[in-house]
Amino acid sequence: MEDQMHHDKGRTKNDFIDGKIKHLGSKDSEEPFFVASLDSLYMKHLRWVTKLPRVEPFYAVKCNGTPAVLKMLRALGTGFDCASKGEIKLAISIGATPNKIIYGNTTKALSHIRYACTHGVNVMTFDNLDELQKISVIHAKAKLLLRIAVDDSKSMTTHHSIFGARLETVNKLLERAKELSLEVIGVSFHVGSECTDNLVFKKVIGDARHVFDIANLLGFQMNLLDIGGGFSGRDDQQVKFNKFSEVINAALDEHFPADSGVKIIAEPGRYFVESAFTLVMNVISKTVITEDVDKPSEIKETSPNKMMMYFVNDGVSGSLSFVNIAHAHEKIEPFPHKTMETSEQKYLSVLWGPTCNIYDKITESYWLPELHIGDWLLLDNMGAYTLCLRTNFSGFERTRIYPVVTAETWHTLNLSHTYNIIL
Ligand SMILES: Cc1ncc(COP(=O)(O)O)c(C=O)c1O
Repeated sequence: MEDQMHHDKGRTKNDFIDGKIKHLGSKDSEEPFFVASLDSLYMKHLRWVTKLPRVEPFYAVKCNGTPAVLKMLRALGTGFDCASKGEIKLAISIGATPNKIIYGNTTKALSHIRYACTHGVNVMTFDNLDELQKISVIHAKAKLLLRIAVDDSKSMTTHHSIFGARLETVNKLLERAKELSLEVIGVSFHVGSECTDNLVFKKVIGDARHVFDIANLLGFQMNLLDIGGGFSGRDDQQVKFNKFSEVINAALDEHFPADSGVKIIAEPGRYFVESAFTLVMNVISKTVITEDVDKPSEIKETSPNKMMMYFVNDGVSGSLSFVNIAHAHEKIEPFPHKTMETSEQKYLSVLWGPTCNIYDKITESYWLPELHIGDWLLLDNMGAYTLCLRTNFSGFERTRIYPVVTAETWHTLNLSHTYNIIL
């Protein structure tokens, strides 16, 4: 179904949304839906190769495993960072070859390591002695990346306390790998999702150099550096991405110059998909609160004495569970579809999902014009960590995805073969 490609000359995500809303209206249906712009992935790819020409991206599948997305990224030459047997299977199913897959999870189940081994996926990460032991028994020919710890306190999600070996433990880990005759070919790290401080990359690339030096002394031939993910995926964050790229390129040139023979890869997730997806939801219920609501005085002056509660048909138990992460609700910036008849006056509005659950609050208070039941609300930048984290709570179905692509991109990249569709 997700391969049901929608394209037309000059057709964009917005054109598709307009048509779909009209179509649903004619069928008396209000199903929510995602639209995924494959052109957006292509633009991101072009930006990446321009700004980080030495770094080969291995897309972090966990971020959004939509097959149409994975196929597009494969067509663009991207590799895949997989966290489990299921993701390796998925990557293989869309045609990724084993040399384009890394198994980037430091806590792997035995059967998943076996699956990687039998399917020729050799590059995998580790950060502790027990993982080394497991790998030596099941996949003795694996090519290992030692994941090192990063101070990720400047990122939206942090893994520091769980993942990555501290520098003082590196010697011991490498010595054990030697004893087990395992091949350690490089270093990996992940600065945490949505990193806000590019100097974190500068520091950890220097740390990685230090680990390479230790490994070389122990007789390893290291030739791969994996700089992880953490890059913002919003188009309005382009300047930030450019600044990050400058810092990363300078650190790579200093510690791993082009003639060092070290290949550089990364594991970007949200960078590729965040801005590609728009979620379109329908207002299924509404409550107007007219009592003297507890509002800050500056709001009382500008707002009439009522607040709105809207219930829409996707929510925190569905595609939007990421709002539970600190600060993530700031990403929720709903706006009505342009065909909706809305008031000039804006009201403080609380947005709820459809499950009648106290935890299904999408946004605390947001200024919106008055909406009506049946209106369509849109959320841009909904491609990262949305669908993949959904539950089936209260029996709501998975929100469908409609991938769209313009004829120009379709022909430029010769996508007929990729999607097995002749348009
Ligand atoms: C090991 C690893 N690599 C890459 C990523 C992708 O991160 P992002 O989507 O921020 O680029 C994650 C996400 O948590 C991760 O855990």
